[in-house]
Amino acid sequence: MTPLHQVIKNKNTKEKPIWIMRQAGRYLPEFREIRKLNPNFIKLCLNSDLSSEITLQPLKRFDLDAAIIFSDILMLPYGLNQKVEFKKNFGPTLGQIEINEMSQLGETEFVEKISPVYEAIKKVSNSKITDNKNTIGFVGAPWTLLVYMINQQSPKKNLKNNFFEDKNLIEKILVILEKFSKVHIKKQIENGANVIQIFDSWAGLLEEKDLQKYIYSPTLRLVNYVKSLNIPVICFPREIKKYKEFCDIVKPDAISIDYNVDSKLILKNIQIPIQGGLDPKVLLSDKENLKKEAIKYLDIFKDHPYIFNLGHGVLPETDPNMMDYLVKMVKDY
Ligand code: CP3
Repeated sequence: MTPLHQVIKNKNTKEKPIWIMRQAGRYLPEFREIRKLNPNFIKLCLNSDLSSEITLQPLKRFDLDAAIIFSDILMLPYGLNQKVEFKKNFGPTLGQIEINEMSQLGETEFVEKISPVYEAIKKVSNSKITDNKNTIGFVGAPWTLLVYMINQQSPKKNLKNNFFEDKNLIEKILVILEKFSKVHIKKQIENGANVIQIFDSWAGLLEEKDLQKYIYSPTLRLVNYVKSLNIPVICFPREIKKYKEFCDIVKPDAISIDYNVDSKLILKNIQIPIQGGLDPKVLLSDKENLKKEAIKYLDIFKDHPYIFNLGHGVLPETDPNMMDYLVKMVKDY
């Protein structure tokens, strides 16, 4: 059994596997080289030779325990025929939603439009490089996708003023997201993904009174779906105000924590396997500090099933030597 599965399925506390969110990306010179020749990010995600190569780049450098497929949570709205563009130094921009057309979209059309993502997963999971390692597939949580689809860009700190105005539209989008997120999860698993992570990057924007409707209920339906396919599911409800309540209601197989979480408190309150936590900015400091901060997490979670990761994605300005140092340090712990 792979180290990640040992931790998640068997609650093993001896193994401390490591993978890093955004481990394939701009801090790697070999990624930037490919990126320079491929200015269209969506097209790059849809080139299965390149996206599988990019997925494997960090595993060729570092002794990581999992590959996460090089794609994006916004490939789902793209597959639903909403326009999605990535502008340099601005982030994603989305087009208007044509709700009637979107409601009529068929599964086959959706799958065909983003099928290279599944081909890439097949290539990665069949590669020797992922022997005894996991291939992680992922989706954005319904709430975070709803945020991008209605807001049409990253919300940074706030949602549009009239975000919740058209309740009818929101209901329709949530129904569509549930249907196609399940399709997207199923296709990733059929092609070799053996862990699914659900990214809810904007969970922290919601008030407590709205958590049940927009986060707990829709995420629980996806978590139960992944479980029904016998694949472990990790949830990352970033900056959610109620991590414990989230775990009690949604019951993922493992929970990924952000860097503002009090790790000692979470250890006391949460029984399921835990992942992540280290502030990505620590990788911009020096080796001594990196070691000190990483050891804090390893010590706190010594007797708990724990997967080492960061509290959010690795920053583009990170020195790959620091990543190398971190991975070796975790392996030697
Ligand atoms: O983790 C990995 O290595 C796998 C690939 C991956 C990407 N995006 C590639 C990417 C994953 C898992 C994601 C998830 C994702 N995408 C999330 C959830 C995690 C998080 O960061 O909160 C979100 C919110 C998005 C949406 C998104 N994609 C934004 C806001 C941006 C622009 C900001 C940025 O970092 O540039 C992207 C672009 C993106 N997705 C890049 C990569 C490598 C950068 C593209 C580039 O090279 O310019």
